[in-house]
Amino acid sequence: MAIISKDISKAIEILNNEDIIAIPTETVYGLAGNIYSEKAIRKIFQVKQRPLFNPLIVHIHSIEKIDEIVSELPEQAKRLAEAFWPGALTLVLKKNPNIPDLITAGKDTVAVRIPNHPTTLSLLQKLSFPLAAPSANPFGSISPTNSTHVANYFSNTISMVLEGGACENGIESTIIGFENNEAVLYRLGSISIEEIENVIGLLKVKNKQEIAPNAPGMLARHYAPKTRTYLVKNAEKFIKNYSNKKIGVLRCSNGTSSLNCMHLEELSKKMDLKEAASNLYAALHRLDNLNLDMIVAELFPNTGLGKSINDRLERATKNE
Ligand code: TXA
Ligand code: MG
Repeated sequence: MAIISKDISKAIEILNNEDIIAIPTETVYGLAGNIYSEKAIRKIFQVKQRPLFNPLIVHIHSIEKIDEIVSELPEQAKRLAEAFWPGALTLVLKKNPNIPDLITAGKDTVAVRIPNHPTTLSLLQKLSFPLAAPSANPFGSISPTNSTHVANYFSNTISMVLEGGACENGIESTIIGFENNEAVLYRLGSISIEEIENVIGLLKVKNKQEIAPNAPGMLARHYAPKTRTYLVKNAEKFIKNYSNKKIGVLRCSNGTSSLNCMHLEELSKKMDLKEAASNLYAALHRLDNLNLDMIVAELFPNTGLGKSINDRLERATKNE
């Protein structure tokens, strides 16, 4: 598709013109614009059909830029940044007054991260402003993990997808905020709770609560395919009740059984949850394009990244 390109100078030109492009990151592709351009930021919300009360993540290329974004860096935040940046960790911190309200939905905190993708790091280095970037999918639908996913969503509304290959992690960043100086997990993501706790000790988890003020993006139904989708303990057993339906199954490994379904997506034959996470959204996109009667996803082991995968599958299968 014509809008997919590796041309960084063109990307810079479009962004300097207060327009938006899609950028690759190690987690998912983002829809990016200059944080200081009201025009660009409004276009991000409009193209994504995202409600204005849902704040955006600011992307920077170096920890030296952090003072431009935040007014305080708690000790634990510093340790997390040192351990995981560049990488799939987003920190929610007290914002610097310069950060526009449109980015933070009027809140006094801002979400920030340094993405770990060579193309986007080099783009950010060449720009004179940070980039706001929500995931490059229409509000509520499956996140994009390659440039074709983005082009399929937005070829009529944006002029460029910066090609960066398939996203290595394949699942969004883990979001951590601070309340009364205590670290709180707002969104499960590419970095597991266990990895975070190895750095700062026991972590309070608020991921499951649908707390409007803190993480409005964590609405119940999210990351959802168009096809009716079920999340079950045992797919083989479940689909026996629907022998006349066109069914696609998504699960971790083939184990020993064979399945009687139209299409099978096995995310990691060796039961490696990192590999499974990196395949998750691409598999959901494929299944959703097959005109199936239903998608049946099987719960993953509830440990490490399995928790993040199960979280996304639960949101993808929630009914309004
Ligand atoms: O991996 C990622 O984080 C990707 C890539 C592109 O960086 N971005 C991403 O953005 O997932 P988005 O907009 O799809 O999700 C951002 C989440 C939303 O749930 C939003 O509510 C939350 O971050 N958020 C942003 N600012 C916040 C704040 N000040 N306080 C609490 N939550 C915040
Ligand atoms: Mg998103």
